[in-house]
Amino acid sequence: FIPKEVEIIEVGPRDGLQNEPLAISTEQKKELIARLAKAGFLRMETTSFVHPKWVPQMADCEEIARYCNELGITYIALTPNMKALERAIAATVPQMAVFIGASSEFNKRNINKTTSESLAECEPMFARAKQEGMFIRAYISMAFTCPFQGEVTFDEVKEVCDRFIQLGADEIDVGDTNGQADPKMVYERFSRLRDLYPDTTFVGHFHDTEKMALVNVIAAIQAGITKFDSSIGGLGGCPYSPGATGNVATEELVNMLIRMGCETNLNFDELVNVSPFAKSLSSRI
Ligand code: HMG
Ligand code: MG
Repeated sequence: FIPKEVEIIEVGPRDGLQNEPLAISTEQKKELIARLAKAGFLRMETTSFVHPKWVPQMADCEEIARYCNELGITYIALTPNMKALERAIAATVPQMAVFIGASSEFNKRNINKTTSESLAECEPMFARAKQEGMFIRAYISMAFTCPFQGEVTFDEVKEVCDRFIQLGADEIDVGDTNGQADPKMVYERFSRLRDLYPDTTFVGHFHDTEKMALVNVIAAIQAGITKFDSSIGGLGGCPYSPGATGNVATEELVNMLIRMGCETNLNFDELVNVSPFAKSLSSRI
């Protein structure tokens, strides 16, 4: 099965850069965002309202949000807690994203709360975001396996998903945070999620640690998923997911979809031009 159209959400300025050990200037980040906007993305994840001690690379989130507003693009910013959401509202961010681990051990390491504690905080956060008219993206991280607990069960994923849906998330992003999922796992997990929640919009977010990100996209497409995150140049990784490498590379994903006759509404030539610039910002590629 090949859908007519797939939405790709660029996460390079956020997931792509957050794990970079050397400071990247705000000006370089702005250039990356502007060039990606030129390539035609309808939505981009551009920054995170996290604690600068935890993720120093995202310390300029207010300035990046101001720039995105000036550019007039639709963008998503990560907001792991109420403090983050209030900062994002003050910066007039249009789309927020929570990210909660199906693995509680990962969640503690990543945002210093158990999965249940983070889900409890979502209730006032989603209500507040709705008051402000914000779009709510909700990530289930470590939705396949976890470097700390090993196997992640479907029930653990379902528990987070149920709560997100009850609270009114606009889309649910299912993350293979450490890049250890395989196509069988992806097909089965997405098929079960789609059977249980036929009216919910799901997004696939694959890291390429085991070089299976592209085939995992194909497996998710077979289960009916038509929205995917990717990162220009294949940059990325989570500082609290040891060994995880970058996201599926945007230009590789777009190339594959174009070859299959699938519309992405992106300018491939432009993407190919931006990729070396994105890679030049990384000290890890
Ligand atoms: P904490 O230390 O537990 O926070 O951090 P706290 O509530 O205990 O407060 C301690 C101090 O931090 C207080 O200040 C708060 O005001 C302040 P003090 O009173 O001591 O002066 N504080 C904040 N300051 C700025 N911004 C905030 C904030 N919150 C509290 N938002 C926190 C909790 C969530 C902030 C921290 O754990 C954190 O920043 N974690 C970031 C983790 C992260 O960004 N990870 C990478 C992104 S996740 C990912 O990559 C996966 C994904 O791509 C999907 C996938 O691949 O599956 C999304
Ligand atoms: Mg990620």
